[in-house]
Amino acid sequence: MAAVTTEAEIRSALRSVIDPELRRSIVELDMVRSVQINANGVVDVTVSLTTPGCPIRGHFQKSVVAALSDLDGVSHVNVYFDVLDDSEKAALKQKLGRGSLPEGSLAEVGSVLCVASGKGGVGKSTLTANLAAALSAEGRRTGVLDADVWGYSIPRMYGLGAVRPSVSAERKIVPLQASGVKVMSIGFFVEEDAAVVWRGPMLHKALTQFLEDVEWGALDHLLIDLPPGTGDVSMTLAQLLPQARFVIVTTPQPTAQKVARRSGEMARKLSLEIAGVIENMSGFVTPSGERFQIFGEGGGQQLADELDVPLLGKVPLTMPLREHADSGTPLVLENPDDPASQAIRYAAKGLVALSPLPSLPVIQVSQHPAPPAAPKPVGMSLPMA
Ligand SMILES: Nc1ncnc2c1ncn2[C@@H]1O[C@H](COP(=O)(O)OP(=O)(O)OP(=O)(O)O)[C@@H](O)[C@H]1O
Ligand SMILES: [Mg+2]
Repeated sequence: MAAVTTEAEIRSALRSVIDPELRRSIVELDMVRSVQINANGVVDVTVSLTTPGCPIRGHFQKSVVAALSDLDGVSHVNVYFDVLDDSEKAALKQKLGRGSLPEGSLAEVGSVLCVASGKGGVGKSTLTANLAAALSAEGRRTGVLDADVWGYSIPRMYGLGAVRPSVSAERKIVPLQASGVKVMSIGFFVEEDAAVVWRGPMLHKALTQFLEDVEWGALDHLLIDLPPGTGDVSMTLAQLLPQARFVIVTTPQPTAQKVARRSGEMARKLSLEIAGVIENMSGFVTPSGERFQIFGEGGGQQLADELDVPLLGKVPLTMPLREHADSGTPLVLENPDDPASQAIRYAAKGLVALSPLPSLPVIQVSQHPAPPAAPKPVGMSLPMA
C-alpha cells in the first residue's frame, strides 16, 4: 500500500472544501477541528460548524470525502462534526468583519447574480423580474432579492403590492412567491411610497437580514436587483457574498456605456466576477417592421468587449414590456413571443449556460483577496409581518 498521507497534505486537500454560506475554505475559516490518520489508511476528520443546520452538514460530509478519497494511502474517510464554541464564533466574526454568522439560509443557494448599472432607469428591475421568471420557466429554482432599498420596484413588477411575508416557526422570513420565483423586498415591510432613510450600518444590517434571515431554501439562482450606481449596497453584498457575479445592464449609446463601465470597474475593485452584459432599449421595431435605433447602437457589444465578457442579449424597447412591468405580470410568461421576451429568454439561457447545475451550491475557491470589511452593524431589526 502507498505511504500514508501526512496531516499537512490532508489539510492542504481540505482547502477545496468551501463553506457554502461564508464561501471560503474550511481551512481558511479554522473549521477543521482535527485530523487523525490511522495505520490502516482510515482518516478521521472533525469539522466545526457555525450552526448545526443539516443542509450544511450534508454538503461538508460529501465534500470532505471527495477531497480526500483520492489521496495516496487513504482507504476510507470518516467525517465528524461539532459546533464552534462562543469564543471561536467571536474570533470568526472578527476575522470576517461580520456582526453575526449565517445560520443556513444561503447554504443551498447556487449562483448569485447581481444586476447592476452605472446609472438609473436603464431597466435593471424590469430585466431582473423577467430574467428570474424566464429562469424559473426553464426549470431553475430562482429567487429575487430586491436590494434597491431606496427605489424598490420588484413588488410592483410581480404584482405583490399589498402582501406581507409571514415568519416561519424557525423565525425566518418566508419569501413571497410570484411567477414561480421566491421574492423578497423592503417594499413588503414599509408603507407604499414611504421614503426610507438608511444610515450605513442599518443598511448593512438590513441587507444581511434579507440574505440570512430569509428562508431561501434550495435555489439554483438568486438574482439581486441593485440600486443604480456604485454604492454602499454593492460594497456590503460583495462582503457578504464573495462569490456573487455581476450582470451589467447598459443602453446602446456610447455615453451610457461609459457610465456602465464604472460598474465594471467597481466589480473588479470588489473582486467580483462579471458574468456578462445585457444591452437594453436596443432599438424599437414598429408594428410594420420598421426599426428605429432610438438610443443609438453598439454600446452593449463595445462594453462586453472591453470587459472581456459575453453580451448576453440585446433587449429591444417594446410597449408590452413596460405595460406588463407596470401591471405586475412578467412579459416573458404572458407573451413569450414578444421580441423583448425572446431576447430576455435568450439571455436567461446564457446565464444557465454560465451556471452549470452542481448537486449543491456553486462553490469555487476564491482566487481573490477578501473584500474590504464593511462597518460593523448596529441596532435595527426588520419589521416582521
Ligand atoms: N426594453 C424596454 N422596453 C420598454 N420599456 C422598458 C424597457 N426596459 C425598461 N423599460 C421601462 O423603463 C422604465 C425603467 O425601467 P426599470 O425600473 O426596470 O429601470 P431600473 O434600471 O431598475 O431603474 P432604477 O435605476 O430607478 O432602479 C420602466 O418603466 C420600465 O417598464
Ligand atoms: Mg430598479
